[in-house]
Amino acid sequence: MPPEDRLGPIVEFIERKTLKNVCSIGSKFPFLSAGGAYQASSPSAWTAGFWPGLLWLIHQQTGDPLCRETAEACELQQDEVLQQFVELDHDMGFIWTLTSLASYKLTGNSESRRRALAAASHLAGRFNLKAGIIRAQNDRTDIPGGNIGITIMDCLMNLPLLYWASAATDDPRFRHIAEAHTDSALERLVRPDGSTAHVARFDPWSGQFLEVRGGQGYGADSAWSRGAAWAIYGLALGYSYTGRPDYLEGARRVADFFLAQLPASRIPGWDFRLPDPAGQPWDSSAAAIAAGGLIELAVHVPGAEGLAYQQAAADILQALYEICGTQRDDGEQGLLLHATGNYPAGKQVDVPLIYGDYFFAEAVLRLAGRPFLRFW
Ligand code: GLY
Repeated sequence: MPPEDRLGPIVEFIERKTLKNVCSIGSKFPFLSAGGAYQASSPSAWTAGFWPGLLWLIHQQTGDPLCRETAEACELQQDEVLQQFVELDHDMGFIWTLTSLASYKLTGNSESRRRALAAASHLAGRFNLKAGIIRAQNDRTDIPGGNIGITIMDCLMNLPLLYWASAATDDPRFRHIAEAHTDSALERLVRPDGSTAHVARFDPWSGQFLEVRGGQGYGADSAWSRGAAWAIYGLALGYSYTGRPDYLEGARRVADFFLAQLPASRIPGWDFRLPDPAGQPWDSSAAAIAAGGLIELAVHVPGAEGLAYQQAAADILQALYEICGTQRDDGEQGLLLHATGNYPAGKQVDVPLIYGDYFFAEAVLRLAGRPFLRFW
């Protein structure tokens, strides 16, 4: 059966539940679902773009005016965060790509364009020239050595905002930063076997590389599954903007590792290298993000190998629907069960998470050939 037909019921489920949720959630910033209901985060949280992004995806399908109005109301609430800017961190791309940039691409709103450019400028301002990295996070005193010189794998997904800003302003500065950061991430966070580390620390003054850390993964040498998923999607997008073969090779190396590690269920555990993986929580969000990355990869890899990435994405999405989907539970707002945000910190374990829902919807709609504009 072609993917368009196989995915039809999944599209229907995503639309039905999101159109119901928009009436009850409104312009809050849902993050994690507990007891069936999404709890809200602040407009500055790294996850604050995913709900409006999901609403823009559904608005494209249905034309539903409430989805558009609610996404726009979320965007307006983030203005204070952008103006104050001290709470902003490296995840500005996650937020403003799915709010302002999505809005600008779909509606041509010039205020949204201005916000997206402001976010891109703040993001570019976090670049450490000596280390060649966009600094992750803000000041913390609870980790040895502090975190001024750290960068993390997730940040690759923030870079499309910089590539867009360069194109929008006809000024390559933003793109130079995106490429320099990607080069460092490829060198320090992607291992020769395609597994990935989460955190790299550099001396912020000399730029010297110091160490990798486990971060949200099990340890410095482990393989956090969502980190691998960010790498697949982030590097594939990097290739789409630059045409650089090393980015494509890196994306494929991580994708091949990810697919080789997946269990028969196609739903990964939260880390691929756990000493005792039996009974450990899954991370459905890692599977959803990886599916998005595999679909992007399939666009750039010709022939049978590209088709194999697309088929792998289709298999993952079908498994997510069958094993983690909440289509039979009208009392649950989340689309997908069994995501894990930060197991080492004991946070967000085995719950629906809004970014899992967003990337699931994005990948399903794209693969199903529905109206789809890539926001990244
Ligand atoms: N901060 C991104 C993540 O938790 O995956």
